[in-house]
Amino acid sequence: QILILDFGSQYTQLIARRIRELNVFCEIHPFTHAPDLTEDIRGVVLSGSPCSVRDPEAPNPDLSKYLGHVPVLGVCYGAQLLAQQGGGEVLPATIREYGRARLHHIEQSSPLMQGLSLDSQVWMSHGDTIKTLPKGYEVIASTPEVEVAAYHIEGQPTYGIQFHPEVTHSTQGKQLLRNFVVDICQCAQDWTPEHYVDSSVVALQRTIGPDDQVILGLSGGVDSSVAALLLHRAIGPRLHGIFVNNGLLRKEEFESVLHSYQGLGLNVTGVDASEEFYAALKGLSDPEQKRKAIGRTFIEVFDREAHKVEGARWLAQGTIYPDVIESVSVKGPAVTIKSHHNVGGLPEQMNLKVVEPLRMLFKDEVREVGETLGLPHHILHRHPFPGPGLGIRILGDITPEKVQLLQAADAVFIDALHQTGLYEKVWQAGAILLPIHSVGVMGDERTYEQVVALRAVTSVDGMTADWAHLPYEFLADVSNKIINQVRGINRVVYDISSKPPATIEWE
Ligand code: XMP
Repeated sequence: QILILDFGSQYTQLIARRIRELNVFCEIHPFTHAPDLTEDIRGVVLSGSPCSVRDPEAPNPDLSKYLGHVPVLGVCYGAQLLAQQGGGEVLPATIREYGRARLHHIEQSSPLMQGLSLDSQVWMSHGDTIKTLPKGYEVIASTPEVEVAAYHIEGQPTYGIQFHPEVTHSTQGKQLLRNFVVDICQCAQDWTPEHYVDSSVVALQRTIGPDDQVILGLSGGVDSSVAALLLHRAIGPRLHGIFVNNGLLRKEEFESVLHSYQGLGLNVTGVDASEEFYAALKGLSDPEQKRKAIGRTFIEVFDREAHKVEGARWLAQGTIYPDVIESVSVKGPAVTIKSHHNVGGLPEQMNLKVVEPLRMLFKDEVREVGETLGLPHHILHRHPFPGPGLGIRILGDITPEKVQLLQAADAVFIDALHQTGLYEKVWQAGAILLPIHSVGVMGDERTYEQVVALRAVTSVDGMTADWAHLPYEFLADVSNKIINQVRGINRVVYDISSKPPATIEWE
């Protein structure tokens, strides 16, 4: 595997993504916790950083345990750090280099540069530049502005590059990373979903005792579903899935997802606790109070069900790699790992150990593993859905009648997205029930009924989002259908706000 030592660059995760795309396994560790060299580590990548190596406070770890023992590739800050530690000179760049540049000199014999063409576009993003290289360092690529765009330390497989091969604007960046991990580090390209499934099944069977029972909260989302399938493959019915209906799911979602799980052979208990949730929410209209009531009720219901599982030793969670990286980030003190199912104090209370079979996977890898395990398309590619569900899409207080009304309108919208092939073009979509009435006219009668807002966004990770530019004809059709079919709604509006400054949800 490849070890990526993180110095805090915004691109570190991308380096890992690109290496994994080459079917080579890699792990990110913060430079403050640089692991010792083991046989598994075939090479090391030093990431970029928002810091300047000239700053006395900047990260400056001792890298002698790696240098000369395994191949090392310094990227941007990593390259400057190696140059400075070797006695070279790093200075502020006279021309700040951000953006595209072209390689006008390449040392063709360098193993790192194989297959890269002259004039290849690379992505620069740095305020410092390497002015003089230490003795024994040779330049292997330059751009018109940056003499030391790439270098090699003679006599050892250590390289530095000033540009960022991990961003797609470096058009041959992947080739360069391939040269490093496959040819120079000699990593086998065997990190595939099938390989991951096989090796995790063996690892899970080794970790989980032969009589141990495992509890997992299922939500119908991708992560918990894939975690369930993987555990099921490893330990069969000793995995006890618990799927709680909080009464705030989409129309018929509870039944249909439960049905899918059962079709996959999973040992899952569906618990319809809708009435408990409605009782806890009664009269509450403050968003935070609603969230708290939903979270608290979930823990109560889940705990009660979990205590029924005899011999339970483990609590499984669908934690994925970005959550893990976040929790060990160099950017700040450890943030607690997001608890996907709000399991509260259950591990301590029931003396459970936690098992996280997806903690090494990125989201798209989770999908690939899910596909390998036969998870149906509609679960694999479903939009994200918030834990509190429709509870935060009914503005104001919640009643079962309002839930039914919103479920009906939401189903018209989502079905239409599916039918027109637009569902997979948007990142998330749903309907919101507004806490107002407005006047309308139907036939000869005036109406005074509720308003529904439609929300659809495009996004990569939900941190920022743009409102989806859905076709007018599509919106007109959905609006007609909702007003005609859902009694109690006489007006539909479309949300055209982006995040920031708006959020995706309305509460
Ligand atoms: P916002 O509204 O903050 O949403 O732009 C970003 C993403 O997070 C989801 N979301 C939640 N998920 N519990 C959840 O599990 C919540 O309380 C919650 N609030 C927002 C939202 O659906 C979107 O995907």
